[in-house]
Amino acid sequence: MNTDREPIGVIGTGDVGLVTAAGFAELGSDVYCVDIDADKIARLEAGEIPIYEPGLEELVARNRDRLHFSTDIAPALEHARLLFVAVGTPPTYSGDADLSAVESVVAAMPPSDRHALVMKSTVPVGTGASIKRRFEETGKTGFRYVSCPEFLKEGSAVNDFLHPDRVVIGDDGDWAGDAVTELYAPLEAPLVRTDIRSAEMVKLASNAFLATKISFINEIANVCEETGADVIEVARGMGLDDRIGKKFLQAGIGFGGSCFPKDVQALKQLAGNTGYHFQLLTAVIEVNELQKRRVMNKLQKHLGSLVDKEIALLGLAFKPNTDDMREASSLVLSARLNAAGAHVRAYDPVAEEEARKLIRGMAFCPTALEAVDGADAVVLVTEWPEFAELDLAEVAGRMRGTLLVDGRNFLDVEAARAAGLTYEGIGRPGLNGGGTS
Ligand code: UGA
Repeated sequence: MNTDREPIGVIGTGDVGLVTAAGFAELGSDVYCVDIDADKIARLEAGEIPIYEPGLEELVARNRDRLHFSTDIAPALEHARLLFVAVGTPPTYSGDADLSAVESVVAAMPPSDRHALVMKSTVPVGTGASIKRRFEETGKTGFRYVSCPEFLKEGSAVNDFLHPDRVVIGDDGDWAGDAVTELYAPLEAPLVRTDIRSAEMVKLASNAFLATKISFINEIANVCEETGADVIEVARGMGLDDRIGKKFLQAGIGFGGSCFPKDVQALKQLAGNTGYHFQLLTAVIEVNELQKRRVMNKLQKHLGSLVDKEIALLGLAFKPNTDDMREASSLVLSARLNAAGAHVRAYDPVAEEEARKLIRGMAFCPTALEAVDGADAVVLVTEWPEFAELDLAEVAGRMRGTLLVDGRNFLDVEAARAAGLTYEGIGRPGLNGGGTS
């Protein structure tokens, strides 16, 4: 391991900040992590990882000596030139990104010719330019700025950091851009070194494109249901075309999480603020909202009124391998089910604690089998690997009804049918309804 690696600061110890910190520590840097949340810093110092992210605990433990945690920015400023910013940029009511946390960081920077902010947080195009303007207005002209958007996915963030598809660095062609380039060099990823605005746009456009791909395949799935085609076969046939690619063509009950819904909205809003109406993204958002609700039609088709029906949800997190409940489809679904008079119970292997903070009127069960006990219908919401191991005959035996709605086209259809379950997938009409068509 190279012992001459540049020390860095990381401001914000959420998913992105912590993975970035641990990743650069793994590559040999001393990393000075800063967060305003004293409780979080105390937990991190005690070796506790506040989020569920496979491999992160081990990575932090392995690099414990190189990771320093503080609520004070001073050690980071003293030891590091590059200060990575990974604070939250949640949506505001208008759909714009809330940049108040970023602004606090900018305001906390002292005048310096030796430091640079490296922006990891997802920000609107033009943020870098306005921060640089702010530096100039406040006598901090020497402070450098680099945009270095993050593309890691929750649930596989450690691997994504260590094996990125590309590294994007937007800068003014100065020492700071060179230093960030140098830091990423050991990862041997394709490098896109560009101007700051383009780097900012790469991030928003990438997330918007992936979200568009999902809404597109979800609409194809809905048309498959009307026309008798099977979306799994359709996606397989489409995905083999290199220009299309097979990733992000899994139809389901909509995308969620802390990024896609927020970033698609933010890009739409950013365009709108300039007077441009981004029509496509308006549709992507609407399709996603409707997709979350389609499960209701499937349940009503088989069960009629849902008043006093027992509905079991398998999985609550917005996707597997995370406890993140932000914008999860389960939030909309559980609220709709409650409103329709159903009794809802659920099991999630990891996200229960987070879900309890957000969902009312739902019974949380300690296992999947307990959740399905006496249920009129079971809905698979999140494709946790352990659900693939479920004994569907036992599931059927415990249920009161027979309906299984597979919201992620994840379960074995033949096994479900053999167990006597009525299988409803997404965009798979030939298999739906438990018939023999
Ligand atoms: C996403 C991007 O994939 C990352 O590149 C990006 O860095 C991150 O946002 C971010 O901006 O921070 P993430 O939100 O962790 O990552 O989750 P994804 O794996 O992209 O999944 C997002 C949602 O799309 C999930 O609800 C998932 O179930 C859904 N999805 C994904 C589908 O419905 N179908 C698919 O084929 C793929």
